[in-house]
Amino acid sequence: MAKGMQALDPEVRRGDSDPQGGSVLWLLGPTSAGKTTLATRVVADLRKNGIPAILFDGDEVRDFFGEGLGFGTGSRLRVVSVLVHLANKAADAGLNVVVAALTAGQDARDHVRENVKNLTLGYVSCSIQGCAQRDPKGLYRRAMRGEIDTLIGYNDAYQPPDDPDLVLDTEAHSLEELAGRIVASYVRA
Ligand SMILES: Nc1ncnc2c1ncn2[C@@H]1O[C@H](COP(=O)(O)OP(=O)(O)OP(=O)(O)O)[C@@H](O)[C@H]1O
Ligand SMILES: [Mg+2]
Repeated sequence: MAKGMQALDPEVRRGDSDPQGGSVLWLLGPTSAGKTTLATRVVADLRKNGIPAILFDGDEVRDFFGEGLGFGTGSRLRVVSVLVHLANKAADAGLNVVVAALTAGQDARDHVRENVKNLTLGYVSCSIQGCAQRDPKGLYRRAMRGEIDTLIGYNDAYQPPDDPDLVLDTEAHSLEELAGRIVASYVRA
């Protein structure tokens, strides 16, 4: 059975080395699953509770590099490497980091697991059908029309992670519920 949100326990979240450092909650999942929406809400609510927090989103990294980054394995891994670097630096400075990034591919996930301290890997889950119905960026519609052929979940199968620390099901739970449970675990810690 997939691990649920009860796995978001301080011992899991802060299970490793540096007691002064912040934690890293890495949210991964398919396009339109709700990573950015959930991460934005969590960071805003943590700050309201006086807990220093910062969001790094895969889209920011892509916007920064612009046309220089494509959607092949090398480019996807590069986005993840930059996010890992930023997350570690911010966590070292005591911030609680939330990363929102697709993080497709086992090599990218292994890279995160091996290189991020105080990590909680959260799988933001939503069926591809549900994601395609939401489609706030219109990417599924573009893929269906054949305008893009790089959309994971449509052009390639989306592989769920096999070892998430928690599963955040955005079809079964509201944004408020998911964000509330995450924030509560930080407030308790
Ligand atoms: N429980 C929920 N949690 C988060 N988002 C939800 C939920 N229910 C519905 N949504 C909606 O799902 C959409 C998710 O879009 P969002 O941009 O956050 O996805 P994403 O995972 O960041 O996608 P991408 O990989 O393209 O950046 C939003 O329109 C949001 O309002
Ligand atoms: Mg996003």
